[in-house]
Amino acid sequence: CLQRLDTFLHRSIGSDVVAAQAEAVRRDQSDAKDGSKSLYVVQAERQEQAERSVLISCHSRTNEKKFLKDLSKHGDIKKHFFYESYGVYAVVEFSSQESVASLLEGATIPAVSHESMVPFKSRLLSLRNLNSLDSSNQQAGQQRQPQTTPPINELIQRLSRDESIDHQITHLTESYQLTEENIRLRFLVCSLLNDIAAAYFPECTIKPFGSSVNGFGKLGCDLDMFLDLDGISGRNVKMPKSGLFLEYQMKRASSERAVTQSILSVIGECVDQFGPGCVGVQKILNARCPLVRFAHQPSGFQCDLTANNRVAMKSTELLYLYGELDPRVRCLVFTIRCWARTHGVTSSIPGAWITNFSLTVMVVFFLQRRNPPIIPTLDQLRELAGPADKSVIEGNDCTFVSDFSKIPLHSNTATLEQLLCEFFDFYASFPFSKMSINIRKGKEQNKPEVTPLHIQNPFETSLNVSKNVNNSQLDRFVALCQESTWLLQQRENNTPRRHTGGNTPGPWGLVQLLMPLQVAGVKGRKGKRREAASPGDSVRGEGSVQPTAVFQLIAMGG
Ligand code: CTP
Ligand code: MG
Repeated sequence: CLQRLDTFLHRSIGSDVVAAQAEAVRRDQSDAKDGSKSLYVVQAERQEQAERSVLISCHSRTNEKKFLKDLSKHGDIKKHFFYESYGVYAVVEFSSQESVASLLEGATIPAVSHESMVPFKSRLLSLRNLNSLDSSNQQAGQQRQPQTTPPINELIQRLSRDESIDHQITHLTESYQLTEENIRLRFLVCSLLNDIAAAYFPECTIKPFGSSVNGFGKLGCDLDMFLDLDGISGRNVKMPKSGLFLEYQMKRASSERAVTQSILSVIGECVDQFGPGCVGVQKILNARCPLVRFAHQPSGFQCDLTANNRVAMKSTELLYLYGELDPRVRCLVFTIRCWARTHGVTSSIPGAWITNFSLTVMVVFFLQRRNPPIIPTLDQLRELAGPADKSVIEGNDCTFVSDFSKIPLHSNTATLEQLLCEFFDFYASFPFSKMSINIRKGKEQNKPEVTPLHIQNPFETSLNVSKNVNNSQLDRFVALCQESTWLLQQRENNTPRRHTGGNTPGPWGLVQLLMPLQVAGVKGRKGKRREAASPGDSVRGEGSVQPTAVFQLIAMGG
C-alpha cells in the first residue's frame, strides 16, 4: 500500500497531490486489518487536512459564534479551535480547499503608513473585524486549548492523588502527550512553510518527523521538519522504451550534501525574509545534518528544517511502530523522558547530555530484552517485511514490515510499575564500558569504539546515536538509575500516602522519583541498597543533598 501511495504522489503535482493523497488514504484505511495505520498513511491524511486549514490571529474577546458564522460564508467548517501563544489564535479547517481560496480572496493587505510590507500572502491571517468582538462579555469569548504541559508542581500534586504507580504512569503520559489540536497545528505549520518552499520547488512537501509524529512527543517539543524533494531527486527514474526522450537540464553540485546545503540556504533566506511569524532564523549548514532553525511565533514552536533526511524519517516510522505495538512502550518512554528531564539527564541546550532520542532507543532496547520480549528486534521486523517494504537509503538497509498485523507479539503481562523498576535496575548495572546498545539485534554487542555510551544508530549502523555523551553525564544517569531502583524497592514508597497535613497526600511512587534525588551521595549505593531496604529506613536519610544544591548541580551539567 505504501508503494501505491508513493507512485501516486510522485506522479501528481500541485493540487492533484491533495486529491491523490486523500484517495490513497481512504483506500489504505479500508485495507487496514488491525486498525493501526502506518505513519505514512497518517501523515498523508494530516497533510491533506492541513492544506484545508488556515491560522487566524484573533482578539481575546473574539466572539466564537459570530466568528464562525462569518467564516462559514466561505464554506463548511469541519473543525476549529482556539489557543493562546503571544496572543489568541484560531485554527480553522474547512471541508474543501475552495473555501480557503475564497477566504483568501476576500482578505486585504494591511494598510500601514509608517512601515512597508513584504508582499507575501499566506494562510496566516489576522482578524480585523471589530464586529466579531464580544461586547457583552469582557472575558475570553472562546475556550482555548492548552498547548503546553501542566507545570511540574501541579502534575506532582495530581499524581500524588493516584491510586497506583501504574495509574501515575498513565496519568503522566496523558498529561504530557501531544493533543489532537497540537498535532494539527504542527502539520499546519509545515503546510504554511510548504507554501514558501513551493515557490521554488512546486513538487516538494515539508513533512514533520521526530517526536512531533513518532508518538513520543511531549507538548512543547520542537518541530522537526524535512523538505522532501524525492519526487525530483533522479532516483527511481524510468527510461521510456521508445518515443521522445527528454531530460531536464540541471545545475550540478559536487555532492548531495552540497545540494542540500544550497537548497536549505535559499529556503532559509526565504523563511527569514518572507515567512510571516518566522523569527530568529539561523542557517546551520555545516552540521552533520544541515538545518535551518527558527521560531514560529504564532504557534510557539521551535522549528528545525532539514532536507534530504530520509533515514531520520525511517527511524521516526520505526519508533512510531514500536509505540503502536504495545501501549506500555509509550507510557514508559514518557515516564523515563520526564524523569530524565526533571533530573537534568536531558536538557534543551545541546551538549554532552543524553538526548530524548537516545533515551527512547534505550527504552526500546530494554523492552526487547524482557523475557518474553515485549517488542521485536529490528532484524525480526525486517524478516517480516514484504517486497513493497524494501527500502535502501544511501546504501543503508532501512527495510522493515509496515503491516502491523503481521507482527507476532509474546504475551508478557508485566505491569508498568514492574517495568519501570526493571528499567532502572537494568541500566543501573548495564556494562556500558564494554557493550553497545543495539536494537537491530536486540542484544548488547561489543563496543566498536572507545566512547562512554554507545547506542548503535538503527539504520546508519556505523554511527553512534549518543556520541555526544561524556563520562560524567553517563555516571549521573547510572547513579540516578541506582537511586531510583532503590526508591522503588522501598515498600513504603509504593503505596499511596494519605494526607500528611492539609489536603495534599505526601509524595509517593512515581512522585518520589520526580523529586530531587541524592545523586551526589549515590556512588556505592549498590552495597547500601540491600541494607537500606529494611522497613523504616528513611529515604531522605542523613547527608541528603538539599534540593537547591541538586538543581545547581544539574544546571552546571555536573
Ligand atoms: N535522529 C536520528 N539520529 C540522531 C538524532 C536524531 O536518526 N542521532 C532522528 C530521530 O528520528 C529523531 C529525529 O531525528 O526522532 C529528531 O531528533 P530530535 O529532535 O533530537 O529528537 P526527537 O525524537 O524529536 O525528541 P525531542 O522531543 O527531544 O525533540
Ligand atoms: Mg525533536
